[in-house]
Amino acid sequence: MSIRILGTGSALPSRAVTNEEIAELVETSDEWIRERTGIAGRHVSTGETVASLAAGACDMALRNARKSADEVELLLVATCSPEDVAPCAACQVQKEIGAGNAVAFDLNAACAGFLFALHTAWAYVESGIYRNALVAGSEVLSKLVDWKDRGTCILFGDGAGAVFVEKCEEGGILGFVQHSDGKKGGVLTGVGRPLDNHWFHLNPDGNYLNMDGREIFSFAVRQIPKTIEEALEKAGIALGDVDLFLLHQANRRIIEGISKRLGVDMARFPMNLERMGNTSSASIPLLLDELNRKGELRSGMRLVLSGFGAGLTCGACVLEWK
Ligand code: UT7
Repeated sequence: MSIRILGTGSALPSRAVTNEEIAELVETSDEWIRERTGIAGRHVSTGETVASLAAGACDMALRNARKSADEVELLLVATCSPEDVAPCAACQVQKEIGAGNAVAFDLNAACAGFLFALHTAWAYVESGIYRNALVAGSEVLSKLVDWKDRGTCILFGDGAGAVFVEKCEEGGILGFVQHSDGKKGGVLTGVGRPLDNHWFHLNPDGNYLNMDGREIFSFAVRQIPKTIEEALEKAGIALGDVDLFLLHQANRRIIEGISKRLGVDMARFPMNLERMGNTSSASIPLLLDELNRKGELRSGMRLVLSGFGAGLTCGACVLEWK
């Protein structure tokens, strides 16, 4: 028994911000950002919240799965940037979409959060506690970012993606791996903040996201190929039998490094970071929804989802599309 993804959804803030606009704030250029990251633009909240974006994505995933909100048994929101400590974002989403019969809670594993939440849903369904789950990754990192630090503000974007999953007897998720290394926690840190970014209004207190970009870069390029191979082994699937690798959209060069180490052509690594930037826990479900809506995911296709981030955390999931 496993779970399969029946529907996907996504939501983005209405305000799109170009590299040129960022170059007006910090000493950088469109050329540098494109070359070093692959990012050309991102969406930034001017009022949208983790809960409102997650609710939009969840609503869409339910419609895509042809399910109603009152059928949802478990509602998980992965986020590291909620507006409130309580109630959690998942309970706010529950209220917003009317999923009155669901059990709802948040989960934080930074950029690997969506994968960890998906694995949690899988464990609940496999153990027979619930039959289905709505799983979202939602972030408004623009309020955690120092818009005067060119090492971080060029990278991140806001948004949410969601999937509806249900119990299945065949196919679905075939293998899963998760890792955490708290000893390396210091390489990406942040404190909780209210909604606050340059396009909203400036916050002067200086408690922003702090990142050793190079350290995370090399962690991802070294660790993700191993994590993917581990998950493939658990699933009993060969690397050559995977149709698409949907990786956390952090930096084009990281994805290129991983594809090189795995010996897999870049054509099998779809990307949307050019338009979205790094949306942390939202990046994998945002990409999944985009491919689903374009009709690029066909029944029987084998997908690998893999992400990494603060913690440090990383994970990989092998699944067969419905
Ligand atoms: O989602 C998980 C969490 N985060 C990540 O995945 C981030 C992973 N890391 C990265 O994506 C990259 O490390 C960054 C995009 C953050 C930085 O790129 P990099 O190629 O690692 O640059 P760097 O930090 O090694 O800096 C190279 C040079 C430096 O100048 P010098 O010392 O060589 O003169 C920086 O000062 O580039 C300079 N630099 C910039 N120049 C123009 C750094 N940021 C910028 C910038 N514009 N925005």
